[in-house]
Amino acid sequence: MALLKDIIGVVLLFVVALVARLLSVVRLIFPAGKKSVSGEIVLITGAGSGLGRGMALSFARLGATIVAWDINKEANEATVQMIRQEGGKAFGFVCDCSKREDIYRAAQEVKDSVGHVTILVNNAGIVSGRKFLDCPDDLIQKTMDINTNAHFWTTKAFLPHMVEQNHGHLVSIASAAGFAGTAGLADYCTSKFGAVGFADSMRHELRVQKLTGVHVTCVCPAFINTGMFTGAKVKEVETLEPDYVVQQIVDAVRRNQFWLVMPWKIAAASAIQGLVPLVVADAAADFIKQHQSMDNWVGRQGDKKDN
Ligand SMILES: NC(=O)c1ccc[n+]([C@@H]2O[C@H](COP(=O)([O-])OP(=O)(O)OC[C@H]3O[C@@H](n4cnc5c(N)ncnc54)[C@H](O)[C@@H]3O)[C@@H](O)[C@H]2O)c1
Repeated sequence: MALLKDIIGVVLLFVVALVARLLSVVRLIFPAGKKSVSGEIVLITGAGSGLGRGMALSFARLGATIVAWDINKEANEATVQMIRQEGGKAFGFVCDCSKREDIYRAAQEVKDSVGHVTILVNNAGIVSGRKFLDCPDDLIQKTMDINTNAHFWTTKAFLPHMVEQNHGHLVSIASAAGFAGTAGLADYCTSKFGAVGFADSMRHELRVQKLTGVHVTCVCPAFINTGMFTGAKVKEVETLEPDYVVQQIVDAVRRNQFWLVMPWKIAAASAIQGLVPLVVADAAADFIKQHQSMDNWVGRQGDKKDN
């Protein structure tokens, strides 16, 4: 009897999953309308480079006020100037996102001088690029502090006002490494699993509190041509262009979409990951040389140290 109930349960689950999948295909053809971000205050961590700079420019072009945070003062200021030269509104703050106290300090400065943040983009990230046993403890700690823990502190600083107003958006720039462990990326993958877990948990916390005006978007891209992963490559999976990724992120935020996994091959793999036996998943990963993907990684000049 119990077995029969289990079988019926599994069949029902498959039917529901199939219907949901069909509906999401319909959504692809007829996507949800995009909300306006004009007048929103968008804080982006790691705004001095790559995706952070791209998102800052894109949101500013849509009429948002940008609060740019980065540890790199010059690069952050360059982003702010680019936005201002285009007639947009932007304010720069130096912040070391690996330090909780510095995040709280900068957050207070933002509240005092710019206002309440309504879209929070946790984007700052680093990669150590070492095999686990070759990676110094402090670098592992720093990776966790920037890629995961910073999301806690920025959210603690800015979510209360969003909750009060039932208006806001949390954006987590995680990674495809946030649901697939990879050799040579143990600390990075762990930090991104953390970012994904936090984003998903916040989505639930907001949902059960019926805070329908506060949204969450979790971004999980494969390798992107920003410099962070120069030399890294997965066979059969294209390396994405930053402009394309930025456009997809901004659109996903404007559509209040939770998952943004790209390219589509990664999205498909993540969807079936839990359904196939481990031996099949491992064979697929070996075929695309996933676990050799960091063998030729150089990152930016100087990132790769002799291991
Ligand atoms: N590039 C990729 O292939 C890729 C793929 C998937 C996910 N991601 C994620 O996307 C995000 C952006 O990556 P990117 O490719 O634009 O990288 P990037 O290196 O171009 O930009 C990262 C920015 O974060 C800043 N930063 C680093 N440490 C900081 C700190 N302690 N405090 C504040 N700022 C700090 C850097 O100065 C830099 O401006 C990261 O979270 C990264 O993990 C990147």
